[in-house]
Amino acid sequence: REPLRVALLGAGVVGGAVARHLTQRSGDMAARVGAPLEIVGIAVRRAGRDRSELGVDASLFTTDAEELVTRADLVVEVIGGIEPARSLILRAMAHGASVVTANKALLAEDGPRLYAAAAQHGVDLYYEAAVAGAIPLLRPLRESLAGDEVRKVLGIVNGTTNYVLDKMDTTGAGFQDAVEQAQALGYAEADPTADVEGFDAAAKAAILASLAFHTRVSGSDVYREGITEVSAADVAAAREMDCVVKLLAICERNDGGVSVRVHPAMIPRSHPLAGVREAFNAVFVEADAAGQLMFYGRGAGGEPTASAVLGDLVAVARHRVGGGLGPGESSYADLPILSMGDA
Ligand code: HSE
Repeated sequence: REPLRVALLGAGVVGGAVARHLTQRSGDMAARVGAPLEIVGIAVRRAGRDRSELGVDASLFTTDAEELVTRADLVVEVIGGIEPARSLILRAMAHGASVVTANKALLAEDGPRLYAAAAQHGVDLYYEAAVAGAIPLLRPLRESLAGDEVRKVLGIVNGTTNYVLDKMDTTGAGFQDAVEQAQALGYAEADPTADVEGFDAAAKAAILASLAFHTRVSGSDVYREGITEVSAADVAAAREMDCVVKLLAICERNDGGVSVRVHPAMIPRSHPLAGVREAFNAVFVEADAAGQLMFYGRGAGGEPTASAVLGDLVAVARHRVGGGLGPGESSYADLPILSMGDA
């Protein structure tokens, strides 16, 4: 089969990891999709930086993202922020490309416009990586739970603030010190204000509430309080009471509508969310028929986020190849048969 042309927008922590996987594991990807995925370009802000560690052909890097998106079947947007990401995504769709994005800020601000453009041009828009990194959460809400009535989504959806609060709790580190450590590990957004002021979690809560409750909630609809006012003394006081401070996102359906909020909360150490350490995320979902569900995993960082991006990329690529979003018969037929080992 003809290769599917993949354009990557962004070669930061996430984009770099995606490029590496696509290059090093191209055979596996081709077998799973039913066609090779060929990177036709990687848009970067600055040319000339040494990116040899990604193992991709240096000629693929370009600063002309606008041109790049016109010659791709699949576009992966991992630049973040509203512009130029939004214009590039809309342009890609207008040229017939399906889009995979990790851009929670954009989805929370202008999601309906992106969905409308995807529908208009008959392309896919997938964004599992936008919320809770590696954890499969959006597709379960969007697909697996689409026939149920979700009542509540509650959890920790920002890895940076969880890392910061965890370090403050376990090592007595100061706030700034812990933020710098989170940044060094690649968890924080380029501007950590989005993390520590709760904007990142609010955007994620808006996306979760929209999917869970089949409605439109934007980031600005979410009540938001970050962790900048949480002092070492607050953390110590919580400790005294056998509690931890966590930044929670809470989305609830009530009789009158929905309530969505993000704020720090003191929770008892015996609560399962108290055991969510470092940059991990955890989300509880409550639905009428399903009852309680729990999702847990790495919520930030290049590799975990790349996992979600790659999963979406395989799904939309399969859709192109076989018409369905799951593996088609052709892709199963090409898969190697693995030995089952000893029983
Ligand atoms: N800065 C985000 C976080 C990255 O810390 O959770 C993942 O969205």
